[in-house]
Amino acid sequence: MTDQTKSPERDLGTGTRLVAAGRRPEWTGQVVNPPVWRASTHLYENMAALAEGPRRNEDGRFFYGRRGAPTQWALADALTAMEPGAAGTVLYPSGVAAIAGVLLTLLRPGDVLLMTDNAYDPSRAMGRGLLADMGIETRYFDPLDLPVYEAAFCERTRAVLLEAPGSLTMDMCDVPALARIARNHGAMSVLDNTWAGPTDFAALHLGIDVVLMALTKHVGGHSDLMMGSASAGAELYQRLRERAQNLGQVVSPDDAALALRGLRTLSLRLERETASALQIAQWLAEQSQVGRVLCPMLPGAPGYDLWKRDFTGGCGLFSFVLRGGTAARRNRFIDALSLFGIGYSWGGFESLATPVDPASLRSVMAWPPAGMAPEDRYGVRLSIGLEDPEDLIADIAQALQAMESP
Ligand SMILES: Cc1ncc(COP(=O)(O)O)c(C=O)c1O
Repeated sequence: MTDQTKSPERDLGTGTRLVAAGRRPEWTGQVVNPPVWRASTHLYENMAALAEGPRRNEDGRFFYGRRGAPTQWALADALTAMEPGAAGTVLYPSGVAAIAGVLLTLLRPGDVLLMTDNAYDPSRAMGRGLLADMGIETRYFDPLDLPVYEAAFCERTRAVLLEAPGSLTMDMCDVPALARIARNHGAMSVLDNTWAGPTDFAALHLGIDVVLMALTKHVGGHSDLMMGSASAGAELYQRLRERAQNLGQVVSPDDAALALRGLRTLSLRLERETASALQIAQWLAEQSQVGRVLCPMLPGAPGYDLWKRDFTGGCGLFSFVLRGGTAARRNRFIDALSLFGIGYSWGGFESLATPVDPASLRSVMAWPPAGMAPEDRYGVRLSIGLEDPEDLIADIAQALQAMESP
């Protein structure tokens, strides 16, 4: 996270920029944080000002609560400041809303969307539902197979949706190469960068056209808010903003204030989570009951070289598969954990565990993948939080033992 060389726009360190981002004096006044502006109505001085309100649709100008107030503007401004190459950031009420907002901006009836096969399942559901209903076709590709991916482009391909690493199976792809190929074919690339975030993967700088995040995860960081964001260069940002306004997208000022609070400690939390995750992943790799650890940050694991080349850090989210056994045995393992919550989401201060069964969520990537024993198909995804890693390892060790006694 301290490596400044991968983003030439970074003069100040990540922590310093996280502290300063979005804290414009005109929004904070005499206090450190922008106050929570709860507002639907903005009052105008007079009739002339009222008439001017809707005409001047600019960032940072009052109009009506749906276009936000300083609390939401400060968050958007902070995220833009953290994203090298971004001209602006649009906020959405969830990560899924951000994915939908971006795709509904870029795609028209008749277009083809190429979606990475290991996309977050609700992104795939969007392809089958919302996009299909609009006459937009979604085709899936294996992000690790560049020649087949390149051959998939046609004159109707308008956009590509990527994730790095992919959901559940944590496959790391070559984002700059995938983005370059998309651009060469006249298509726009979108990256769901929730895993690394702007502090650890400079998506726009590395060739992506629109970068989005579920702020629900690391930026919020405390499992108490839902929000999403999309950042882009000037032209695409204006299009995203206009479409979000058409769709009536707005986030609450209270949630924006919580997300800003989370943002200030983002790099600290990510550093701690990453170090703990690595320690736990390393330990898991040595256990006889573990078939494979799916963590691109782990030296020697699949995707490690790409992660090392393009990322300056990571986070606490990774998966592993058990050696042999049944789904019931894997479920016994998860049930036996006492320091890990069982629940969806990730990136909070607390550790979570969920089952990984991707076979029914893939169209072109095999599960288990080549080189992995077919019986090693039952996986677990861990979101490592801020607990002491030694305690988490002890908890996993007792759960591995407990799973063997039905
Ligand atoms: C990779 C990824 N993107 C997007 C989302 C969606 O975020 P939200 O739950 O805020 O809609 C998630 C949620 O788990 C996710 O894992």
